[in-house]
Amino acid sequence: MPRKKHIKIAEVKNFSNVFNYKDENVFKKICNYFGHKSGYTLELGCGQGDYTINLARLHPRTKFIGVDRKPSRIYDGAKHSNEIKITNVGFLVGYAELLAEILPPSCVDEIWITFPDPYPRRSSMKKRLTHPRFLAIYKKILKTGGIVSLKTDDETLYHYTLKVVNELGLKLIKESSDLYNNNILTEEEKILTKYERKHLADGKKIKLVRFAFL
Ligand SMILES: C[S@@+](CC[C@H](N)C(=O)[O-])C[C@H]1O[C@@H](n2cnc3c(N)ncnc32)[C@H](O)[C@@H]1O
Repeated sequence: MPRKKHIKIAEVKNFSNVFNYKDENVFKKICNYFGHKSGYTLELGCGQGDYTINLARLHPRTKFIGVDRKPSRIYDGAKHSNEIKITNVGFLVGYAELLAEILPPSCVDEIWITFPDPYPRRSSMKKRLTHPRFLAIYKKILKTGGIVSLKTDDETLYHYTLKVVNELGLKLIKESSDLYNNNILTEEEKILTKYERKHLADGKKIKLVRFAFL
């Protein structure tokens, strides 16, 4: 492992705004940090947390948690939000697969999934973060009517997610296969991530799917 990455992994453990799924009483630690037991918005696969930090700027009274399995990716966002003193942001080193074991039922208002690994092969379909097995987990931690939003550049993941939403009878709120062409965007939808900037620079079309559990 490169030395820089190694240092980040070691340092991020000491950040006051970073929690680890392996910690004992991790949810209690999260509640103590934010002073709240519910009303969270999550960004899954947050990387360096662009959505988490910019959503937190838009909504200073809401509590935002960026979730990523890789602590070295979380390091940059956590360091930056500490430096700019944003207190309504935290980061959780953890797997989307384990969210219902880490967080209690109904404590989340909204989930953003920003440019997840698309897993285009059929054999890896179960790893897609909008596969029904993940949606079942999200449903447990979301409040009734909680919203899930996916941003992706990947055609297969976009169509797959629309199909799953339809098959499971979920409420489609908004969708676009070309978000920045002829759409009225909310301030939240306009936030760009590191990967999104790369995809836009490569001339790719950005797709959005937003849906709710009834
Ligand atoms: C392509 S990157 C996108 C990062 C960021 N959202 C962006 O748009 O710049 C995907 C991220 O998802 C994380 N990830 C993939 N599968 C995950 C899982 N099951 N649970 C948590 N994080 C996951 C990866 O570690 C990686 O940082």
